[in-house]
Amino acid sequence: MYDLITEHNYMYHREIHAKIADLLKRRKEQNQYRLLDLGCGNARFLAPCLMQSPPARYEGVDLSEAALEEARGYLAKLPCPVVLKHGELLEAAESTDKKWDVIFTGYAVHHLTFDEKTRFFQAAGRCLTDNGWLLMVDVVREEKQSREDYMEGYLRLMREHWTQIPPDQLEAACEHVAAYDYPEPLSTLKKMAKAAGLNNSLVLSRYGQHYSVLFSRHALANDELED
Ligand SMILES: C[S@@+](CC[C@H](N)C(=O)[O-])C[C@H]1O[C@@H](n2cnc3c(N)ncnc32)[C@H](O)[C@@H]1O
Repeated sequence: MYDLITEHNYMYHREIHAKIADLLKRRKEQNQYRLLDLGCGNARFLAPCLMQSPPARYEGVDLSEAALEEARGYLAKLPCPVVLKHGELLEAAESTDKKWDVIFTGYAVHHLTFDEKTRFFQAAGRCLTDNGWLLMVDVVREEKQSREDYMEGYLRLMREHWTQIPPDQLEAACEHVAAYDYPEPLSTLKKMAKAAGLNNSLVLSRYGQHYSVLFSRHALANDELED
């Protein structure tokens, strides 16, 4: 079902990944980079970005064996070591013994509780290289908006605009969102990042509730950002 949602671009994967591809290209022009993808799913949208600018190593972590199996296919042609791990993303971030240049996470962190998100940023701060990037794509709620109000708005958006999803599947998706989505306001994510030493944050793109944010220890140089 998630494939159907992304095929119709309801969560703006196309625009978001165009920007991600551009950033990874600039990163690669500077140096080799190693990328950890937390909650990688089937990596369908990240794979073409990585093909354009192959990392020195790709590691993906996900709770779904089925998604990892598909990811194996989408990443098959990547000319670098590809490791896919079945596991929990927070545990993976906290236990990795490697330093990563880029941590990517797409639409997964909002599933964590507040305390788990705090730990997630702490772990990212620890395992990123000094000039490492945390690239986070996720849903975000407005400042001072309650989770209930956020939910009402998002479920309305799904029911009114996700018109190409068959009704029974749409209702299942709504139930999933209502049960498992705990997005934070941007200021909370920034505070968590700052407490982990990731003092710099940059909103790369925003489409309604769908944000892409780059967190780093240091401000980015102009040539890393210019169009
Ligand atoms: C909405 S999909 C996003 C997939 C892909 N990253 C993207 O941006 O399109 C969320 C993925 O995160 C995974 N996931 C959710 N919570 C997780 C957790 N705590 N640990 C590992 N994977 C998790 C799910 O299995 C799913 O594959």
